[in-house]
This record gives sequence, structure tokens and C-alpha cells, in this order.
Amino acid sequence: MDHPTRRDAANLLLVSPAVAFGSQANSAVTFGIIGTGGRGRYVGTHMANDKRARLTAICDLFPDRIDLAKTQVPGADKARAFKEYKELLAQQDIDAVLIATPVFLHPEHFEAAVNARKHIYCEKPAGADVAGVKRLMRAVARADKSKTMQFGFQQRFSPEYLTAERMVKEGKIGQLTLMTSYWVLGNRPPQQFKSPYDPKDQKLRHWGLWKDYSGGPIVEQDCHGVDTLNWFGKAHPVKATGTGGLRYKVPYGDWSSDHHNITYYYPGNLEGWLISIKHTGGFRDVKEQFFGSEGMIETARTYYRYHGPIPTSPLKNADDLADRSLIEKVDSKREITIDAVEAFFTSIVQKKPIDMSTAAAESTLTALLGRMAHETRREVSWEELLRSA
Ligand SMILES: NC(=O)c1ccc[n+]([C@@H]2O[C@H](COP(=O)([O-])OP(=O)(O)OC[C@H]3O[C@@H](n4cnc5c(N)ncnc54)[C@H](O)[C@@H]3O)[C@@H](O)[C@H]2O)c1
Repeated sequence: MDHPTRRDAANLLLVSPAVAFGSQANSAVTFGIIGTGGRGRYVGTHMANDKRARLTAICDLFPDRIDLAKTQVPGADKARAFKEYKELLAQQDIDAVLIATPVFLHPEHFEAAVNARKHIYCEKPAGADVAGVKRLMRAVARADKSKTMQFGFQQRFSPEYLTAERMVKEGKIGQLTLMTSYWVLGNRPPQQFKSPYDPKDQKLRHWGLWKDYSGGPIVEQDCHGVDTLNWFGKAHPVKATGTGGLRYKVPYGDWSSDHHNITYYYPGNLEGWLISIKHTGGFRDVKEQFFGSEGMIETARTYYRYHGPIPTSPLKNADDLADRSLIEKVDSKREITIDAVEAFFTSIVQKKPIDMSTAAAESTLTALLGRMAHETRREVSWEELLRSA
């Protein structure tokens, strides 16, 4: 089968690391990590494993997180360690930064990284509220455009997602009329809250449970699926409606919802549905589906699959038959964050900067639109959202 997105990926790899930088270690792309929590250490490890990169600095407010990085991330034990992110950004010998701090800090940290003229890989989402996203976009407007500004929406770098998106664009499923994002994922509802941390640090340590720090569940978690809807739908929605609520009382933090049913209305009569359910007793179903007049394409982090009508019986789908070969399914070759990290360093090495800031900002705003629609229990337009801050 033709894999057009392989060509996309290949374009990013036209220059091998050796050709671009020679073999001297000092020609590597130097990078620092701001926020060595779970994601910072995970993405930071993939970055450190890229032969074109060298980790030279790490930063976290808390010494225990610095210590974890030093033992887990290759090269971090020899890297300079900072408590203040501004000190890390002031290091002239750092080319690039990974920002993996709590969501509400992304605009501030992104803005400072733009001012310091670093290549940026900022974790998703772009901010926890509309004001934060606007602040980030103001920084983008005056950024040095020779620098990469990438965000942790890693789906956009997965060869399998890219193939699926191209299939939709090229009409493989006919006219796209409906998209769904399922973000069904969660442990048992927490019964009690017990923190190992000093009470004065607890909100920051458990930032994900507070809406002003995380944006809430739609913004912090479901934004990946929402980003995929915007990408495949080639637009942001013009308005949204939604319902949602709290199935289980939260013992800590201020989540006011743990399940959501949002309808996004895109230009051209295209709808995008977000079905998001937390606290599922461990059950996981995270995927997107794209329905057209001639078939359906499903995407997930580990595969994409295509169902088309069978030629001899157009009203039957391959699922009606025992012959599973009629369903085209392609598994991801690796964890898709590695695809995103590879694209990041390739863009720097090849001096072909990636700027996905508008897409990241729009996807974050789309998540905020869904939040506003279900919280107000009425239709909310894109313009109203933008006017709200
Ligand atoms: N792309 C993905 O698939 C994915 C997956 C998980 C998390 N994330 C995102 O990554 C980010 C981090 O999430 P996490 O799960 O690693 O959280 P985390 O709490 O484990 O890590 C955040 C770290 O930032 C540090 N920090 C807080 N304020 C700081 C400051 N002012 N300066 C320096 N460090 C500071 C914290 O001490 C902590 O170690 C979030 O935006 C989250 O949404 C993305």
C-alpha cells in the first residue's frame, strides 16, 4: 500500500544527522528541560536519545524532581541544574528548550523562551484559559521565525495519523460529514486525598486537579482529540454546545465535571463530537473516527484503520463479514512522541523551522469553547469565547 505520509516523514529526514552536523559532539543541538516532572522526563529522554541532541541543562522548582531527572534522563546527571527557569534560558549555549511545566505556566514560559531566542518544544495545551492563549500568541507574533515552535500534539507527527489525514483529504471516505473524538479514560474515582507534599506546595504539585492551573479535563486531556478534529476538519469550530457533569465527588481540587458530551459545529455542515469520560474503572478507549459518504477512518496513537463499502455489496461494511482483510489497519511503528521529537531536531538541523503555534492555540481554544458550552449549558460561539478575556 502507498504510504504518502512516509514521504512527509522522509522529507524531514533528507539530511542525516552526520551530514548536517558532522560527528563532533560539540556540533549537537543543545537543549534544556524546564519542568522535570513525568512528561518532562519522558519527552526529555526521547530527546536525549536523539543522536543529534545533547542535554545541557535541567530546571525544576523542586529538588526531588531534579534528582529524578538526574537518575532517569540520559545525560541529566552531567547537566547544569536550575531552580529558576529564567536562569536556564539565560544560558547562551542552549539552542532549544522543552517546556513541560503545568499548563497555566505555558504562556509565561513560552514567552520567555521566545525572548531568549530558543527553539521551543512546548507541551500541550497552549494555556489554561483564553487570556493565557492570547498571551502566547502575542509572543508568537514577535518571535524569531527562524526558530521552531512545536507543541506536544504529537499526533500531527505520526506517520499513521498523517496517512489517515491524507486519505480523508484525498476523498477516500467521500465527503467528510461527521467526526468523533472519544477520550474515555480513567481510574476509579478517588475516595480520599492524601498528599506527600508540604501543604503550601500542594496545589502546584497536584496542579491537574485545579481548573485555573490545568484548564480542567477537557483542556488538559481531551485537547489531543480536539486537536485531531480541527486538523482533519481543516478549521476550528464556529460554535459549540455541550453537556457534562460530575459523576463522583472530588475529594481535592475543583473539577466540576468528569464527563462531557460536546458538539462542535465546523464550517460546511461538519460536526465534531467529543465524548469524554473520566473515572472509568480503568477502561480506556481513546480514538477518533471520521465518517464520510464512502467509508470511515479511525485513528489512535497505535494505529489507523479504514473501513470502506465492499464493491459487490455497497450497503454492507467489511465488519459484517468474517473476512477481516477487508478492513485496512496499519499499526504505528513506534510511540508517536518519538516521531514528534525526531521532527523537532530535524527541523532545527535542516533549518526548516516548524511553527504549529496557531494550530496549537486554536485547538486549546476549541477545548476551552467546549468547556464554556457545557458550563453555561448553552450554545457558545468562537467570537464569544475570544471576547471573554
Ligand atoms: N503530550 C502528551 O501526551 C502529554 C502527556 C502527559 C502530560 N503532558 C503535558 O505535560 C505537561 C506536564 O505534565 P506532567 O504530567 O509532567 O506534570 P508534572 O507535575 O509531573 O510535571 C510538571 C513539573 O513542572 C515543575 N514546575 C512547576 N512550576 C515550575 C516552574 N515555575 N519552573 C520550573 N518547573 C516548574 C513541577 O515541579 C513538576 O516537576 C502538562 O502540560 C501536561 O498537559 C503531555
